[in-house]
Amino acid sequence: MDSAVRMADGNAGEGGTEALTEQGLKAAELSVILPSFNEAENIPILIGLLDEALAGIAWEAIVVDDNSPDGTTEVARKIALTDGRVRVIRRIGRRGLSGACIEGILASSAPFVAVMDADLQHDETMLPKMLAALKADDTDLVVASRKVDGGTIGEGLSSFRAWGSNLANGLAQKLLHVTLKDPMSGFFMIRRDKAEALAPKLSAQGFKILLDLVSSAGGTLKIKEMPFTFRERQHGESKLDTLVTLDYFGLLLAKYFGNVVSVRFLMFGLVGASGLFVHLAALRVLLLSDVEFNLAQTAASFVAMTSNFFLNNQLTYRDRRLTGMKVLIGLLTFYAVCSVGVLANVGVANLMYADPSYWWFAGTAGAIMGAVWNYAASSALTWRKS
Ligand code: GDD
Ligand code: MN
Repeated sequence: MDSAVRMADGNAGEGGTEALTEQGLKAAELSVILPSFNEAENIPILIGLLDEALAGIAWEAIVVDDNSPDGTTEVARKIALTDGRVRVIRRIGRRGLSGACIEGILASSAPFVAVMDADLQHDETMLPKMLAALKADDTDLVVASRKVDGGTIGEGLSSFRAWGSNLANGLAQKLLHVTLKDPMSGFFMIRRDKAEALAPKLSAQGFKILLDLVSSAGGTLKIKEMPFTFRERQHGESKLDTLVTLDYFGLLLAKYFGNVVSVRFLMFGLVGASGLFVHLAALRVLLLSDVEFNLAQTAASFVAMTSNFFLNNQLTYRDRRLTGMKVLIGLLTFYAVCSVGVLANVGVANLMYADPSYWWFAGTAGAIMGAVWNYAASSALTWRKS
């Protein structure tokens, strides 16, 4: 059926919303947020499936695309031209599933919002059941779960991924006292006002939006889990990589420590610690090659700073990752920031160094001062928000 016609009569079935705004547009009751990165082949199929599954419900879909190189935005826009229920947000210079979901949720005004993968792995026929559950009882959040009775990970996850996913769930349950069976699920529906209230607390990085929502709510959300089978991916590939996993563990730690330190600072600290090993390894190699100590120490510092820079660019600031010429400029500012960091480090250590038997105290104080400086200055200069 022509989508213009579908617009006119598609929602008129039983239970359909007759809610027309003054302008004659149908107000959506349910907004389906579809975060996408390189899903050009999947989006058109998915919109067709949503149209079938959500017959009788006033819905809209918001595709939040991070400027995919495969042209997902254009594909989605084309559909939006003939189907007013489809909207597109194109984000430039940003990456991150959680951040995309948050933006999609905040762009919607529908009272109920669902977050669903755009790659056809999530079963769209669950949506009406989830909506009914939210509307029927005093439930705030419905999670489509692969882990409650009746739900399976089907063919959707490799055995290694399934193992990793179990470990991640176990840790979340232990550390954060989250009782959800599948806190890593990317498929859920929530009352928008609840999500909106929690939004300022959420981290935009990584894949863990659900866990973040639930743990940030601190037990105030009424949650229901429903089983579903995770489908196998047909087109394109998964973006869940080692970095996403590291980031997830970062969130667990940060939440566990009560958000005193940010995920970013933790990551920055871990990278800094790895820099110490890089430094020592480089120093040893140079000394073995008969390089004079002062020169070797200076060169090793540059090797460590360079390694830290690239790791931070990949991990800590992946959402603001520098590319092309900006890498060079970033590297230079990072060297500059770290050089001042060394001064801060030595200065503070000196101040604290009153008694030789407490050398470690002065040393640690200096190192912390240096790290805090490097973190603050590099996030303001090297990876500043554009
Ligand atoms: N906008 C945007 N930006 N979308 C993204 C990004 C991003 O950086 N990364 C991934 N996505 C989109 C994908 O295009 C897809 O629609 C959805 O988010 C899920 O990404 P996948 O890369 O397909 O994830 P997966 O199938 O490996 O992981 C699934 O299982 C995880 C738990 O094991 C997802 O359901 C995850 O949400 C879930 O946490
Ligand atoms: Mn997927």
